[in-house]
Amino acid sequence: KMLLDWMARYKINKLHWHLTDAQGWRIQINKYPKLTTVGGIGNFNDTLAPAKYYTQDDIREIVAYAAKRYITVIPEIDMPGHATAANKAYPEYSGGVVERYPNFTFNPAKEETYSFLSDIIKEINPLFPAHLFHLGGDEVAYGMQAWLKSPQITATMADKKFATLNDLQFYFIKRMADSVIKSGDKVLCWDEATDADLPADKTTVFWWRQNKPEQLALALKKNYQVVLCPRLPMYFDFVQDSTHISGRKWADTAFNSVMDVYNFPDKQMDGSVISSPNIVGIQANVWTETIASEKRLDYMLFPRLAAMSEAGWTAPAVKDTTKFKEKLKGELKLYNKKGIYYYDPFHPEVHPEAIDYAPHPKIKD
Ligand code: ACM
Repeated sequence: KMLLDWMARYKINKLHWHLTDAQGWRIQINKYPKLTTVGGIGNFNDTLAPAKYYTQDDIREIVAYAAKRYITVIPEIDMPGHATAANKAYPEYSGGVVERYPNFTFNPAKEETYSFLSDIIKEINPLFPAHLFHLGGDEVAYGMQAWLKSPQITATMADKKFATLNDLQFYFIKRMADSVIKSGDKVLCWDEATDADLPADKTTVFWWRQNKPEQLALALKKNYQVVLCPRLPMYFDFVQDSTHISGRKWADTAFNSVMDVYNFPDKQMDGSVISSPNIVGIQANVWTETIASEKRLDYMLFPRLAAMSEAGWTAPAVKDTTKFKEKLKGELKLYNKKGIYYYDPFHPEVHPEAIDYAPHPKIKD
């Protein structure tokens, strides 16, 4: 709720809520109670921590609180990858085991998987009145090799004449997108799903892989709506200064400074300009598995959240870094007053960086 208050101040009008991932399933589903009683157990630092999750009453309360502030809440149930917690609860829908990412995916060759996930979509639908549903679709490659070990999956591939695992992945996405649309929602997905054959008038792609500009180009060519959230500079789990050690960097060096965020999206790293009427907005992603306290979350969000707002609402021609820095000083005073533990780019010594540090695993994608 505190975050929603700050978002309202900054005129940030969508909360994309990533409710499920490898470390935990965080939304109550009445039809499948083990998703939370089992799938909600554990977190990044302690795999046996007692189950934590939002009840449906919690969700309704938060959605209503957001609506009063003109903020739309968008749920994400990530599939077919990032499904480890769900598969812990209901192993019968797991797509199998590879050594580094066991049970990372759902099983795309089992009819029951589609019923299971469609039931979940149907149950979630009335909780989020905006009727926008993000079904993930990212990083399936981490767990997809397990599919080749399943005779059921390889038989399905042969039956449907799929030459590659990607064909099967996109078949899965297409079927689940159909379920989302049937429930009355629009489909939102990460940029991997751009390759699937989805209906242009009902699909929004979230471009996150800044090293794959071709995915952005393809999404625009297919006439999908697009939200820009490239890792550089829009991932707030990345560090914000070269000296920082807690958090991610790209290729061990690149990070996301406050000014990089302010200058987005009119200044791309390669000098090109992104512009299209299909681009409906920008988004910052803060992945919280290694963020173990509110203090740490504050540190990653503030003041980059203010910079993101300016990036979204200021036309390139009137951006003014000197003015922005002056405004920022006023915001930092407000953070002091409100007890926010922020990063101060003018006085980095004010708040130490390495609190609640949890080492982040190396992810090379
Ligand atoms: C993502 O960062 N896997 C969307």
